[in-house]
Amino acid sequence: ASIVEHTFNVQNLTVSRLCKRQVITVVNGSLPGPTIRVKEGDSLVIHVLNHSPHNITIHWHGIFHKLTVWADGPSMITQCPIQPGQRYAYRFNITGQEGTLWWHAHASFLRATVYGALVIRPKSGHSYPFPKPHKEVPILFGEWWNTDVVALEEAAIATGVPPNNSDAYTINGRPGNLYPCSKDRMFSLNVVKGKRYLLRIINAAMNIQLFFKIANHRLTVVAADAVYTAPYVTDVIVIAPGQTIDALLFADQSVDTSYYMAAHPYASAPAVPFPNTTTRGVIHYGGASKTGRSKPVLMPKLPSFFDTLTAYRFYSNLTALVNGPHWVPVPRYVDEEMLVTIGLGLEACADNTTCPKFSASMSNHSFVLPKKLSILEAVFHDVKGIFTADFPDQPPVKFDYTNPNVTQTNPGLLFTQKSTSAKILKFNTTVEVVLQNHALIAAESHPMHLHGFNFHVLAQGFGNYDPSRDRSKLNLVDPQSRNTLAVPVGGWAVIRFTANNPGAWIFHCHIDVHLPFGLGMIFVVKNGPTKSTTLPPPPPDLPKC
Ligand code: C2O
Repeated sequence: ASIVEHTFNVQNLTVSRLCKRQVITVVNGSLPGPTIRVKEGDSLVIHVLNHSPHNITIHWHGIFHKLTVWADGPSMITQCPIQPGQRYAYRFNITGQEGTLWWHAHASFLRATVYGALVIRPKSGHSYPFPKPHKEVPILFGEWWNTDVVALEEAAIATGVPPNNSDAYTINGRPGNLYPCSKDRMFSLNVVKGKRYLLRIINAAMNIQLFFKIANHRLTVVAADAVYTAPYVTDVIVIAPGQTIDALLFADQSVDTSYYMAAHPYASAPAVPFPNTTTRGVIHYGGASKTGRSKPVLMPKLPSFFDTLTAYRFYSNLTALVNGPHWVPVPRYVDEEMLVTIGLGLEACADNTTCPKFSASMSNHSFVLPKKLSILEAVFHDVKGIFTADFPDQPPVKFDYTNPNVTQTNPGLLFTQKSTSAKILKFNTTVEVVLQNHALIAAESHPMHLHGFNFHVLAQGFGNYDPSRDRSKLNLVDPQSRNTLAVPVGGWAVIRFTANNPGAWIFHCHIDVHLPFGLGMIFVVKNGPTKSTTLPPPPPDLPKC
């Protein structure tokens, strides 16, 4: 194992996109930022120097952070932000996971342009549990706005109205030739016939799930969220914000044609407006003839924007690679059972001139970031008044969203309560959470992301979760394990994880604007009995508020 060291210079940069010039915040002058490549077992040190005018933090999405929760990164959860002119070194080890993860800003809307891939290969002497690829290709989806994204978010929070849709989707920072002034800004991949390519696909888009296809080619999914899956052959990938998919592309088509890869939204909530545009990149084969080069490029036929069935099939068909590297069996005994409703509601307020505002919640608790001190520092130094240890195991009112009478008699779920609420877990507790979309404003698929842990996805479905019917559906044999799960639109999912890492871990919707609207909560995991299960003190350079 080695120590891998990087410096991230966070700075503003003026770039041209979609016929306009725009100032954006980036790392090391590039969009996306640098790809971090490590082997399982390595240690990472990343020096973040903030030359930008914004408060910023960097989050290592999907990393377990065993005893390094001080490096997890969400602003005001595990650290105060790095202020302009300041620096912080993120130090952590990569253990027990291989595949594709990523890093992104975790303060305001900055992750729109501050993000990059984090690729974890097997340690020396170990190999992939699939044929060795000829090359590995990161494919990062993003969203682009012709406007300042921080101002965009501030306006959304102030008005309670979700921000304008993005002006483009991108592949590796490039919109592709369906957008204005973007003919030369298209991702292109050259392949050799007969070779295999490992696509490391990341959805870094802010607010939208995506369908992705390559004309004439099928893909074999081999990992999701840096957990190996049983090989799954498909012609379409569905990916929610925060998720990653590793898929093998076999270059077995005619060299005399070129092929578009394309992505556009899976709009789970038809009522919510979404940008109906498409990003694309292109695949060229080596050895094409002149006539081949001049043929029209083939375009894949993407599913319709509202094709929930295709999304559900993809999401629910993935299974674990049982006995594969780092495979973790499902814990059989559950110590804590929770039912948590998720969804958009309205801010409860007396003054009807500013109401109603959208507000999101988990079991009616609309999460508010603390202002003075991070939650983790409050836990470590035992400072009172930063958060409340009262996150409930059940929603506050009886819930049944498919029955309109119950909904109407229970405004207690529609009108959210602001809080900074945590659920306290003893070390090594196994937790089972039923996530239920309460669908009171709009049925929508929320991609729920848990920091610091992977969870097993035991079952999912539509409508109300009904234990007497749905317990029998739990897959305890080979369920997929992930860090981000798109809970089916107007539906539910059952997840299970073991809280074996002390710290404060946020669990939240990865639709970026839903977090400031309140769709989050905290798990505080207490120390275990030994030094190696105890939260270490904060590093000396931890930023001050
Ligand atoms: Cu990738 Cu808390 O997020």
